[in-house]
Amino acid sequence: MNVATHHLRCTECAAVITKDDVSSNFRCPQCNGLYEVVYAWSDVKHPPNAPADPASLLPNPSALRWLWQERRSSSLAVDQSGVWRFRDLLPIVEDPEKAVTLREGNTPLYDLPRCAKGAGIDWLLAKHQGMNPTGSFKDTGMTAALSVAAQRGFEWVACASTGNTSAAMAAYAARAGLRSIVFIPEGKIAWGKLSQAMDYGALTIQLKTDFDGCVKILGELVQKFPIYLLNSVNPYRLEGQKTPAFEMVEQMDWQVPEHIVVPGGNLANSAALGKGFVEMHQLGLIPRLPKISVIQAEGANPLYRWFIDSNRVMKPVTADTRATAIRIGNPASWRKAAAVIDELGGWCEQVSEQEIALAKAEIGAEGVGCEPASSVTLAGLKKLVALGKITREERVVLILTGHTLKDSQYTIDYHRNELFTAAETAQLTPAQVAQHAALRKPPIVLEADSTLVIRTLESHMNQPQPA
Ligand code: F0G
Repeated sequence: MNVATHHLRCTECAAVITKDDVSSNFRCPQCNGLYEVVYAWSDVKHPPNAPADPASLLPNPSALRWLWQERRSSSLAVDQSGVWRFRDLLPIVEDPEKAVTLREGNTPLYDLPRCAKGAGIDWLLAKHQGMNPTGSFKDTGMTAALSVAAQRGFEWVACASTGNTSAAMAAYAARAGLRSIVFIPEGKIAWGKLSQAMDYGALTIQLKTDFDGCVKILGELVQKFPIYLLNSVNPYRLEGQKTPAFEMVEQMDWQVPEHIVVPGGNLANSAALGKGFVEMHQLGLIPRLPKISVIQAEGANPLYRWFIDSNRVMKPVTADTRATAIRIGNPASWRKAAAVIDELGGWCEQVSEQEIALAKAEIGAEGVGCEPASSVTLAGLKKLVALGKITREERVVLILTGHTLKDSQYTIDYHRNELFTAAETAQLTPAQVAQHAALRKPPIVLEADSTLVIRTLESHMNQPQPA
């Protein structure tokens, strides 16, 4: 007998369907809402077929913790994956041992003492999701949804992307022997990401529009062709993206941080992490929930506008920011992210281009580095501390979503002082100008003359190390 391991529930009208009844655009036919994956044990509010005692379907929390730890020493590919190691909490494929994996997850949790001090708190960690195989957090979601596509027999997969999703999808599709189509906004993504899609063999289409325009076109295509949609409207993506929550608390010896700070673009990641924490809480793996706050760039801030609007109306914007990964004006998963902020008690903030660049340089100066869409978290943290929303003694974890090499042009422009327009520079206070100047490390071009080199080094060595 084939027992359904999960159902899909519309996050807006709460209609529950079986996994085989979902439409190709992953939208509810009644209300156009997005689905979430529900399991008998995860669903306290609207059980599809839940038995009386949800715990009866799973080992107890200590057994799960032991099992997940045990798998670390296994040579099985799925056990080496930081996503499938937790497969008991994402039973979404018939045969998990055949999951398409690049050994994603297992990402480090770094402490950032200087950033903590700068932000005015005692203790700051960064969960660096940029340390995934293709350099972004998208791998954790892609291994999950691509495995579903492969096991359901699809030949083609597709996504619209600001770059990282397409890189991840192309890689996982190639591993599985599937064919992939990428839609990206022409000229508005970082070159490294575009090069990855090509390297992994995707059919790459640059559309003369923005991300939101790409999503629209792809939405029409998946209704006409048997293409499996791998944007984050696909709820299986979120099942993979919830696992860094498990990994994080495991790395913290099952302690729960007070606050998680996440960048917000299409707004699936904050929703996925929230789901991960809620499920751990439901299963008794953690005693309480953290707050989750979402940070957006000022030029791509529809959730921030919703958050400060007393009527709570979502109005899409025309997005523009140099943090191209989050250059999104009409986020698909905004309701899911909004629910996480409200239910877990976090905030939404916006940060300027100058604040993003400064925070990125500060994270880089700790030897960690990240792409600009990730450094919004540190910039947002500073604001939340200044507003009194986060207090000094709270343990905060920033989710760094992309590797610093994803957008090296941005970094080079910043250090050469070629990033900001004159108008943007004029907005900086003298103190901010000094902060940027202390962090900038432009390359020094010299004649190959040892006297000149020594003189230059001496002048630098005599300067004090910034605090
Ligand atoms: N950080 C990075 C590096 C991203 O690539 C993205 C999204 C986000 C943050 C925002 O995450 O959309 O779940 O709120 N990038 C997508 C893409 C949209 O196509 O690569 P989100």
